[in-house]
Amino acid sequence: MNNINITDTIKYIGVDDKTIDLFESQYVVPNGVSYNSYIIFDKKVAIMDSVDLRAEKEWFENLEKELGDRKPDYIVVSHLEPDHAGNIQKFMEKYPEAQIVVNAKSLSMMSQFFDIDMSERSVVVKEGDELSLGSHVLTFIMAPMVHWPEVMVTYDKTDKVLFSADGFGKFGALDTDEDWACEARRYYFNIVGKYGMQVQMLLKKVAELDISIICPLHGPILSENLGYYVGKYQVWSSYEPEDKGVLIAYASIHGNTGKAAEKLGELLREKGVEKVVVSDLAREDMAEVIEDAYRYDRLVVAAATYDAGIFPCMESFLAHLKSKNYQKRTVGIIENGSWAPTSGKQMKEILSQMKDITILEPVVTIKSTLNETSNEQLELLAEALV
Ligand code: FEO
Repeated sequence: MNNINITDTIKYIGVDDKTIDLFESQYVVPNGVSYNSYIIFDKKVAIMDSVDLRAEKEWFENLEKELGDRKPDYIVVSHLEPDHAGNIQKFMEKYPEAQIVVNAKSLSMMSQFFDIDMSERSVVVKEGDELSLGSHVLTFIMAPMVHWPEVMVTYDKTDKVLFSADGFGKFGALDTDEDWACEARRYYFNIVGKYGMQVQMLLKKVAELDISIICPLHGPILSENLGYYVGKYQVWSSYEPEDKGVLIAYASIHGNTGKAAEKLGELLREKGVEKVVVSDLAREDMAEVIEDAYRYDRLVVAAATYDAGIFPCMESFLAHLKSKNYQKRTVGIIENGSWAPTSGKQMKEILSQMKDITILEPVVTIKSTLNETSNEQLELLAEALV
């Protein structure tokens, strides 16, 4: 990718990765992912984060092309996760005069990742500290748990640029032409979703700043209509539903639980529900279904009983929701079991451990296939959901 000018003195030197099979070994990324990195030219030259080791060659090529005959003075580390910090050791070895700008937490974690003593080459910063590069002045703002404990973001008040770390990130390589919110939402809830409170704290801090450009560590550089992106982050981090609608997520072994889920979807559409999404947890991208669970205000979980428990893909879905702090939703339950249906009771137990979850009655019980009794329950559940 050609380097991009962010401003007259800030350039993009990140790399698109279109060959990765699973980001973080768990998320499909059909359009790849970008590891963003930037360079600020001034009396001093600062590099803003490195990239994943997978992109080592291309990153150093981009860096050297931009540097020309200059040498970097600093590398600012906003986040130690290897998709950004992967090349720090190689960078420090290649440029022995460069200093690393980190907070104390990052410094304490360095030796877990790198076999190089950086103690004499570190500029340790804390909340509100400034670093002058000449005309650019960088201010460091701590953002713990967005999305690791050592994260900080950096504000350049000269060009009004916020280097936002994983915040405002998105799946998809930079040359991908796709809706921002769709892949940014899937990224947010699956990666940062657990830490809504910490995201809210960061949003409060950056609300004080005059920002023209947001430079995240993944996905496009945002320079227009910033209120739209900040507004999405306000909704997402507060766990409020973004849209009215019902997600019906099902875990079906032989198709009968799936048929009940589809039938409920039809009933809801007939009753005029604004948006109904029916998802097969065994076959669809789990991260996409988790995204929809947060997007809509109502959820129905439909699962077969399996080995006296919950069919595994539903168990996994609920475990994900619980670990990601899922809350503030209305939920309906459908269980199936040919001889001893118990998945409903067990799903209810897991859901009741989440905050502000309203569980609707009745729980629909299917014994193998829908019959007159379970169809009546399904109709009642549909009425409760409207
Ligand atoms: Fe993109 Fe949390 O690293």
